[in-house]
Amino acid sequence: MTMITVQKLTKHYQAFPGAAIVKAVDGISLTIETGEFIGIMGASGSGKTTLLNMLAGIEPVTSGEITIANTDITKLSKDKMALFRRGKLGYIFQDFNLLDSLSVKENIGLPLILDRQHPKIVEQKTRELMNYLNIARIADNAPAQISGGQKQRVAAARALITEPAVIFADEPTGNLDSKSANDLMLMLERLNNELANTIVLVTHDAFSASFCKKIIFMKDGRLEMTIVSNGNHTQFFDRILEVQSAIGGAKD
Ligand SMILES: Nc1ncnc2c1ncn2[C@@H]1O[C@H](COP(=O)(O)OP(=O)(O)O)[C@@H](O)[C@H]1O
Ligand SMILES: [Mg+2]
Repeated sequence: MTMITVQKLTKHYQAFPGAAIVKAVDGISLTIETGEFIGIMGASGSGKTTLLNMLAGIEPVTSGEITIANTDITKLSKDKMALFRRGKLGYIFQDFNLLDSLSVKENIGLPLILDRQHPKIVEQKTRELMNYLNIARIADNAPAQISGGQKQRVAAARALITEPAVIFADEPTGNLDSKSANDLMLMLERLNNELANTIVLVTHDAFSASFCKKIIFMKDGRLEMTIVSNGNHTQFFDRILEVQSAIGGAKD
C-alpha cells in the first residue's frame, strides 16, 4: 500500500520582489510505501529539510501535490492541516524540542493532553511507550537531567504517542555521540520492523542512513538517485559512501 504520493513538488523562495528565486525543491515526484524506512540524503542546501517539511505539512508548497494516507494535504486549510498533523504525523527534530519545565513523562504525554484525552489513558499510553523504549527509569526527570541520547528517545516517544501514520525525522542523530546515534537508529529500525511504522529520515550521515531500507539522493532540489538496501548495514554503508562521492559535494 502507498502511504505518500508526491507529484511535481516545488518550493521556491524569494527574499524580496525582484530578488533571485531559489528553487529549494525543483519538481520532485515520488511514492513512499506503507512500512517503508526511507532516507533523504544530499549535500547541505540540496533541499532535504524543505522537502521533509513540506511532506510533514510544516512548510507550504509552491506547487505540486502531496497525498498522505489518501488526503491531499496541499488542499487542506491551515486549521485542517494542523489537525491532520497532530493526528497522523510525528516529527523528531535534531535539537529534541523538549519543554524544559515538564518532566520526561509529561513531555511524552503532551500531545494526548493537548488532544484532551483522559488522564488515565495518557498515563497508560505513556507508560507502555516508556517501557518499550527503555526510558521508564527517567520518567520523572527533567530534560536538563538526562543525556542527549535519552532526550532523543523521549522526543521519539512524544512523536509516537499519537500512533502516527508516518514519522518524520530531520537529522535526529545530528547532536548525538556515535553510541547514542547507533542506539537511536536501532530504535527506529525496531519501530519499522516490529510495528511497521513508516519512517522518513533526513540525514547527511552515511552511518545513520545505512539503517534505512531505501535512500533517495537530492541535488539542487531534484532527485538524483535512489538506492535500496539488501539488509546488510555494512554493505549498504559502503554503497552510500560510493554514491555520495559520485554525486559530489555530499558533505554537510
Ligand atoms: N526560509 C527560507 N528562505 C529562503 N531560502 C531558504 C529558506 N529555507 C531554505 N532556503 C534555501 O533553500 C535551499 C535548500 O535548503 P534546505 O532545504 O535547508 O537544504 P538542506 O536541508 O538539504 O541543507 C538552500 O539554498 C537554502 O538556502
Ligand atoms: Mg537540512
